Amino acid sequence: MMKKNLIFLVLLALCFKADAQNISLVKGWKMSIGDDAGWSAPNFDDKGWQNANITRPWERQGHANYDGFGWYRLHVVIPSSIKEKAYLKDSIIISLGSIDDNDEVYLNGKLIGKYGGRGGDIKESKYGHRSYVVAANNPAVQWDKDNVLAIRVYDTGGDGGVYGLASEYNIRMSDIMEGTQFDTGKDFSYGDKNSLGKSIQLVSKNHYQYRGKLSVIVTDPETNKIINTQKTDTAHFTNGKPFTWWFAFAPSQKKSYLVTYTFKDTKTGVELSQTETTPYILTPAVSRVPRINGADIFGVRPGHPVLYLIPATGRTPLTYKATGLPAGLKLDTKTGIITGFVAKAANYPLIFTVSNKFGTDTKKFTLAIGDNIGLTPALGWNSWNAWGLSVNDEKVRISAREMAERLAAHGWGYINIDDGWEAAARNADGKITPNSKFPDMRGLTDYVHSLGLRMGIYSSPGPKTCGGYLGSYQHEDDDALTYAEWGIDYLKYDWCSYGQIAPRSPNLDEMKKPYQEMRASLNKANRDILYSFCQYGMGSVWNWGAEAGGNSWRTTGDITDTWASMSGIGFNQDKAAPLAGPGHFNDPDMLVVGKVGWGPSLHPSRLTFDEQYSHISLWSLLASPLLIGCDMGNLDRFTLSLLTNDEVIAVNQDALGKSARQYIKNDNYQVWVKELKDGSKAIGLFNLTDKYQTLSLAKNDPALAGYHKFRNIWSQQPIVAAGSTVGGKVAPHGVLLIRVSK
Ligand code: GAL
Repeated sequence: MMKKNLIFLVLLALCFKADAQNISLVKGWKMSIGDDAGWSAPNFDDKGWQNANITRPWERQGHANYDGFGWYRLHVVIPSSIKEKAYLKDSIIISLGSIDDNDEVYLNGKLIGKYGGRGGDIKESKYGHRSYVVAANNPAVQWDKDNVLAIRVYDTGGDGGVYGLASEYNIRMSDIMEGTQFDTGKDFSYGDKNSLGKSIQLVSKNHYQYRGKLSVIVTDPETNKIINTQKTDTAHFTNGKPFTWWFAFAPSQKKSYLVTYTFKDTKTGVELSQTETTPYILTPAVSRVPRINGADIFGVRPGHPVLYLIPATGRTPLTYKATGLPAGLKLDTKTGIITGFVAKAANYPLIFTVSNKFGTDTKKFTLAIGDNIGLTPALGWNSWNAWGLSVNDEKVRISAREMAERLAAHGWGYINIDDGWEAAARNADGKITPNSKFPDMRGLTDYVHSLGLRMGIYSSPGPKTCGGYLGSYQHEDDDALTYAEWGIDYLKYDWCSYGQIAPRSPNLDEMKKPYQEMRASLNKANRDILYSFCQYGMGSVWNWGAEAGGNSWRTTGDITDTWASMSGIGFNQDKAAPLAGPGHFNDPDMLVVGKVGWGPSLHPSRLTFDEQYSHISLWSLLASPLLIGCDMGNLDRFTLSLLTNDEVIAVNQDALGKSARQYIKNDNYQVWVKELKDGSKAIGLFNLTDKYQTLSLAKNDPALAGYHKFRNIWSQQPIVAAGSTVGGKVAPHGVLLIRVSK
């Protein structure tokens, strides 16, 4: 007992030393679905409620497909020491991660904030982060005593509940640093000898005159040693007048380092800190010698328009050649774009040749004219994770132009508009039209096609999309034909308000119905429209998605740019993995690399650089559609390197179409193994901890037995494995991606 108490006290002391001004609200939450006004009362007995994890939606805590009301409760002591230590003592901030979709927050039974302060009704969709300010002398705050925080949540559809980054849940004083932050959102620039540089700023919405020192510490996360420190003379800033500092450093090794920026205000002694990681690029530079990339196979239905750009890198101008092209197809030898029609179903073996003054590359390719399309996972861009509902014609054109210039040579081809393009009402003849952000959908599609790329669009089987725009309910034929007229090549079909049409707990047939209906409508269109189901994995869609005519299906709720979200989704895909195959793939949602934002203002992905390597590696192993979700007009060098590694893409695009399986799973690491068409395997060794680990497989492990060649896929270098194991050091949340062959 004594010993236990001692350990507890030491732990408590450590917590307070680390961040005594922030009272963490991460642990101890209870949750119940349903609704009862009495659940806000401090003396309500919630012991029988389930323990809640506030970094995960309730769907992943035993309430699959649940939409409606739910409550969360937490007991917390608010120590007056935080007030004493604060410079300003007038209010506290209660920060509560993200609410999906809307909330009312009670402290000791008193309502202290609702709907993010934006008014309206609890049933309105107001997904997002919540912070409520409460006066320090508000009688709802019980200083130094037990307080009960209760959150009433309403979820309109899809994922629901209270969930966000653990670091977002706390109570703190609203002190002088409130509204003050480091802006570290600029890209790193890359100088000579691997040096990195970046402009960071101290910005404030406060009129307080900050005067102090900024210090920077660079730590090697492998050794925990400080390897570089820097200090400014005076950092002086206030509202509208930021302090700018150029941070530069030359890493000695190719890995991520931790950079901690700290500002200390001289007068008040108050400090503000922020830590970030530094990027490192593994993908080798593109050679000037031609290289043909992308999948080895492409499927088109008989008589439907063919549009295929031969993906090839190498110094331009390149000259393209294709032998074996069936009648009806033509190749533009300057752009590499193949167009036309082929009436007869068959597998046509082609040979592509691409040359320039530095050399030539050839590749065998199969044009599969038949009923099965989408034979390898779609590679493209989708507007949602970047622009949310603020997507418009210009943003789509920029994305297409950038894809054509920088990514298409590596096999990327789809430009998909997500929600937010639809007009408020249909035409008198029932036809859907775009809203004013898309003045000419046909013109936009023509532009995308002229670049050799394909165009995607979004709708819902319900009357409304998730963003509240028009859905296709009772207009499935109209819409499929309109898409075909516009030249659309891909449809994402999102359940959303179909929840109001379907019975409350739909059975499998009722879940399939709207997807089969749109399948039938798409079959009437005279072109290939890749069909992507989005219903968040309901009814284990992977078991029936292919039979219902889907080329891919979302297996989860929405992803966001955090490790908890990305890894929670990615490492949970094994159950669906056996069901992936050519023409029908599991879709664990779109990529969260680059600048994302789900709306008009974007930020760099909050995943560390190693987490981003894990993200792309895992999605490639899973044979998932790779849909870039960032601002394509603002692709930094690191993101570009992540998306243009041809050996990584080849794992994703492998014609066998298999998903990796989870081979080893434990708390510290996981190993996933993907079989490839040529008999080799791609193996990902993922470090789940926040410390460096050496991860390896024994050479006589069944996954490796008989394989003698080992290659680091990201760096595209052979691995010299002299001993009895194959592996290496793996960074926190990072990956070692290996290709093993005989
Ligand atoms: C969600 C979907 C997202 C996005 C959004 C648009 O249901 O999962 O990927 O499409 O709707 O409103």
